[in-house]
Amino acid sequence: MLAGKKVLVIITGGIAAYKSLELVRKLKEKGAKVIPVMTKAAENFVTPMSVSALSQEKVYNELFDLTDEAEMGHIELSRSSDLIVVVPASADFIAKTATGQANDLASTLILATDTKVLMAPAMNVRMWENPLTQKNIKILYKNGIKFVGPNEGEMACGEFGFGRLAEADEILKEIEGNFRDKKLKGRHFLVTSGPTIEPIDPVRFIGNRSSGLQGGAIASELVESGAEVTFITGPVHLDPPHGSNIIRVETADEMYDAVHSSLPADAAVFTAAVADWKIKKTAQQKLKKQTGNLPAFDLTKNKDILASVSKLKKNRPKIVMGFAAETENILENAKSKLMKKGCDFIVANDVSLGSKTMGGNENIAIIVSENHVETLPKMSKRALAKILVEKISQSFEEVDV
Ligand code: CTP
Repeated sequence: MLAGKKVLVIITGGIAAYKSLELVRKLKEKGAKVIPVMTKAAENFVTPMSVSALSQEKVYNELFDLTDEAEMGHIELSRSSDLIVVVPASADFIAKTATGQANDLASTLILATDTKVLMAPAMNVRMWENPLTQKNIKILYKNGIKFVGPNEGEMACGEFGFGRLAEADEILKEIEGNFRDKKLKGRHFLVTSGPTIEPIDPVRFIGNRSSGLQGGAIASELVESGAEVTFITGPVHLDPPHGSNIIRVETADEMYDAVHSSLPADAAVFTAAVADWKIKKTAQQKLKKQTGNLPAFDLTKNKDILASVSKLKKNRPKIVMGFAAETENILENAKSKLMKKGCDFIVANDVSLGSKTMGGNENIAIIVSENHVETLPKMSKRALAKILVEKISQSFEEVDV
């Protein structure tokens, strides 16, 4: 997959810079051509000589090197590769690129490029968590820059937390993912995500713990595979997946309308934790405490969005995948939901208290279809997203014939 690909590797200054050597070695083993670029600060941690020896290429580090400009100008250098990888991406480099600075070769390349950029941040946990760094990450993300890591763990400075550079194999996987076949090109997907909230009065609502992480991960994975994605999300704190068409909703009714007006679609994935009930008549004014009187809420059922789409006679997506949030009898309930709702897959999760699935980073899932049950081990929601997208891609092959 990487054979013959040209990967421009930018090494910035940080104690994790030495780990970039391992990545360069692995890229070479896979047959990629590595063009190394180092910042001045990086040279305090690794020598250009070792980078050059491993990559078997000249190391670029000066913005105004006349020989380089004669051979290959910095604009051409920024655009002639298939991918740019920044490893490690220091807090300083992230800040610099987020503010559009171009005062050395590495930052100029990022500003000038039209090639995809992948950054692997590494820094002290406080620096990573600092709102300024987080703001910079958001800016870069919104501009289409992808990130891998940082991971949680012990750091060179002795502190513990998020800030460790992702492992070389993880970065390599992300790089390979970038060159993957766009096998879902030309397919339109609907993804529902996050919670819905049902108003009680102007200040209160019925809600749930869904973070939208699993839906976002699936949508990102679909975009990566070339699909056109309509992402319909309830209120969440996460940034929506880059490259998707985003529709923000609050209530189940709004989600229902958004889903139906976004059809037709080739496939639909319903990860949203839709409220089952809503208040029959939302109070127009804030409910006041009245001594001795507890408010009585008159509830009514919300429409089942997943079932309504699965049972469509016209415009039914070829593949419909639902989720099942369960706290007991997981498999049994998942099988009965598959039947009742009429979808092709149900991905069942244990969301009992203590499972940390809702709102957490990991998931334990069972994929249930008409003739098959597959129990998966505990994994990140991102890893599960990859498996589910693969499953849907395979199903297209079966239904398309
Ligand atoms: N779902 C939906 N519309 C609803 C309720 C649920 O589209 N009004 C979808 C969810 O997005 C999910 C699946 O149905 O894909 C199952 O949701 P879940 O909350 O697990 O089940 P419910 O149908 O609500 O049933 P129960 O509350 O009895 O578990």
